[in-house]
Amino acid sequence: MAKNIELDSYQKKLEEIKKAPEIRKMRAYSQHTVSNTYDHVFHVARMSHKIGKGLRLKVDEESMLRGAVLHDYYLYDFHQVPIGAYQHGTTHALTALNNAMERFELNEREKNIIYSHMWPLNLTHLPRCREAWIVTLADKICAFEEMILHRHYHESSEDS
Ligand SMILES: [Fe+2]
Ligand SMILES: [Fe+2]
Repeated sequence: MAKNIELDSYQKKLEEIKKAPEIRKMRAYSQHTVSNTYDHVFHVARMSHKIGKGLRLKVDEESMLRGAVLHDYYLYDFHQVPIGAYQHGTTHALTALNNAMERFELNEREKNIIYSHMWPLNLTHLPRCREAWIVTLADKICAFEEMILHRHYHESSEDS
């Protein structure tokens, strides 16, 4: 007999956003050595959820999920464009925000998560809510795992 697994609302929202064509575009761009941008942003989304749960913080789960998934929505491969690592580091949060605002209706929390995720490199882009602090921390943990530890993270392999 098939096991009836009921997904909680966070999982349902995650599965839903994973399938969105505009989100799946991120699979075309490589990131952090071992992942593409799609894999990376879902790594960050799941890590953010884990941090929030681990610290028993009350967060707006849906905004945190959407902000985390869109935090690197800059839509280019930075290895393929004539842009230095520092310039990419300091400009891509704003590019991601502008791209995301063109395609999605975002609330202020979601905008701040995207805009501030490179803090403190972008010193003036301050995280202004709990969710933004969590995502900027999760992004650094995931980047370390992917770039330094070369730990593979493949979200897309589940359904590609
Ligand atoms: Fe980023
Ligand atoms: Fe990132």
